[in-house]
Amino acid sequence: MYVTLKQLLEHAEQGGYTVLAPNVFNLESLIAVVEAAEAERAPVIIAIGESRLKDSQLQKYLPVVARQMAQEATVPVGINLDHGKSYHELVLAIQKEFSSVMIDASMCPYEENVARTKEIVKIAHELGISVEAEIGHVGQGEDYTENGVADGLTEPEMAKRFAEETQVDALAVAVGTAHGVYKGTPKLDFDRLKEIYDMVEVPLVLHGGSGTGMENLIRASELGIRKLNINTELLIEAREQVRKELQENPEIEISVSSPSYAWIRLHGTAVFENNMAVKEVCMQNPIVKGQYQTADNPIFEVFYLDNAHGVIADFSGNPPYEF
Ligand code: 13P
Repeated sequence: MYVTLKQLLEHAEQGGYTVLAPNVFNLESLIAVVEAAEAERAPVIIAIGESRLKDSQLQKYLPVVARQMAQEATVPVGINLDHGKSYHELVLAIQKEFSSVMIDASMCPYEENVARTKEIVKIAHELGISVEAEIGHVGQGEDYTENGVADGLTEPEMAKRFAEETQVDALAVAVGTAHGVYKGTPKLDFDRLKEIYDMVEVPLVLHGGSGTGMENLIRASELGIRKLNINTELLIEAREQVRKELQENPEIEISVSSPSYAWIRLHGTAVFENNMAVKEVCMQNPIVKGQYQTADNPIFEVFYLDNAHGVIADFSGNPPYEF
């Protein structure tokens, strides 16, 4: 069943658990994630990065297939535009297949982050689509220092104000995680997370899940994280599978014109054969495993957004900004 982020995370808040949001980048990874969620009877959020949609073929087809799969799934499935920075892409996603978007203006000064987020919230909520935004800034693992994150940690007071001013449905916070591979050991500021959770009404999101360590993630879940983003770990697993495949079968055909595309294709066929790699990384995860039962759960009745999409107002004027 196709559900919004708001529905998913309100339920997670009631149940005190965390929903996994793995990034998908091709048909194989998409199938793997949805099948894994069904196998575990767990809700899931399909994350499609804005950068992925720069590939015009993926832009055209991946969200459509994701939407179809979400509708047919027997567990709740949301589709989230991850790290939406372009106004154009955000509005397209709101109009099309996504049940939520993340507007990432976390690199902007506070007032601009608020203004950009509010604009997207206004459009999205008109159509029943949820919005995630980020306050503070989750950086890259390569910038990690011995003491953890150098700057950009979320200020609890500011997070509270931001959530109230923007009316977002979920809030990503910076509490010590980083995107990509950590240079050093991840250090999470759990006191800060607790303080944010106590002050902020909306469900909290943790980016940079890869390499953070299960102990840290479970603690973060206990302290109020309701959505966990994971990307790099899946790619690392993919690389391992590709390596293994090439070792076992060195003559594997790789003559596709673009090197990066060749890698992705290879990725798809080698890694997601039987869909095992992603399933293992995503769902052998005590945070989500076993937390959700469909049986007597009235919250996730089938929720189609068909009527909502398509009635968007005219946004044909110049976009108010481009990142
Ligand atoms: P990782 O790549 O570190 O798992 O981060 C994923 C993420 O936050 C996507 O938005």
